[in-house]
Amino acid sequence: MATQTLSFNITKTDKSRIDQLDPQKIIFGSLFTDHMLVADYINGEWQTPEILPYGKMEFTPALASIHYGQSIFEGMKAFKSEEDEVFMFRPLENFKRFNISAERMSMPAVPEEIFIGGLEELLRLDAAWVPKGGDNSLYLRPFMFATDEYLGVRTALNYRFMIIMSPAGSYYSQAPKVKVEKEFIRAAPGGVGFAKCAGNYAASLYPAKLAADQGYTQLLWTDALEHKYFEESGTMNVVFIKDGKIVTPAVSSTILKGTTREALLQIAKDKGYEVEERKVSVEEIIDGLRDGSVTEVFGVGTAVVVSPFSAVGYEGEDLPLPEVTAASVSQILKTSLNNIRTGKEEDKYGWVWRV
Ligand code: COI
Repeated sequence: MATQTLSFNITKTDKSRIDQLDPQKIIFGSLFTDHMLVADYINGEWQTPEILPYGKMEFTPALASIHYGQSIFEGMKAFKSEEDEVFMFRPLENFKRFNISAERMSMPAVPEEIFIGGLEELLRLDAAWVPKGGDNSLYLRPFMFATDEYLGVRTALNYRFMIIMSPAGSYYSQAPKVKVEKEFIRAAPGGVGFAKCAGNYAASLYPAKLAADQGYTQLLWTDALEHKYFEESGTMNVVFIKDGKIVTPAVSSTILKGTTREALLQIAKDKGYEVEERKVSVEEIIDGLRDGSVTEVFGVGTAVVVSPFSAVGYEGEDLPLPEVTAASVSQILKTSLNNIRTGKEEDKYGWVWRV
């Protein structure tokens, strides 16, 4: 598939680093492909995007985004089929969400020909970096930040949009044990919870560190007003299997509208599962874990794909979840999603974008 075309200034690397990629030993977010895209927004106009060898950049210490946090990003993935074709998964959804985040953070919209065209151009150049097999994929990270050299607090005038790409395998090496968070919050109504802005992740780190000190991998966030309803988990949306039904918090201004979440729920409906998107109370789930009616809890997201939790920690007590098997709902849905994304299963949804 092709989007509107635009010319990119391309400088190719003269020394590929692909020999550093071992598809059996990928550590998420630690190795980057040979090229990156850079597009500057100056005086109200997008400049011709450049594709350059991946490398360091130089910035002023007065960079507006460092001081006031105008910084957003997306997380997407590309896959390789058995026949070595490269596919992106639902890139237009991420493109739309990126510009929704941009609007909320008072940043300019990125044109489709730069965002999607840039991804296509980079993927053609670095196709050899898309690892095959198992949970492997190429993680795509479009991002934008304010580049004004200015310390006054205002909407910046200049921005840089970039794309970098990084081979990815499984995000977690073990099933996460998550803690229900009832002191700190991730997002409040009217805030920026639905936006993929850097500050949301920064604010989650201290509560996550406290939970890690207690042996938990991640947090299960609850609502800001009453700590009564589940919102999402760190870096992923959350899904519960209760009485055989799929139950998940409805997206709102405080929850990120996950593209993986949406795809998984669609697959589930088509497989005949009952899906409830609604307010999900902590009490309902904790009671369900105790009486056995809640049989699975898992996170869904681009980076984690589908990650079943091993236990839920609530007020000092760990409530374990049953062992995951091939018959678990999480695994049935994950297999189908992965098959569609790698071209093994028919894509009746039009989600797969051939590069
Ligand atoms: C993603 O799934 O793309 C995320 O945003 C997670 C990332 C912060 C690691």
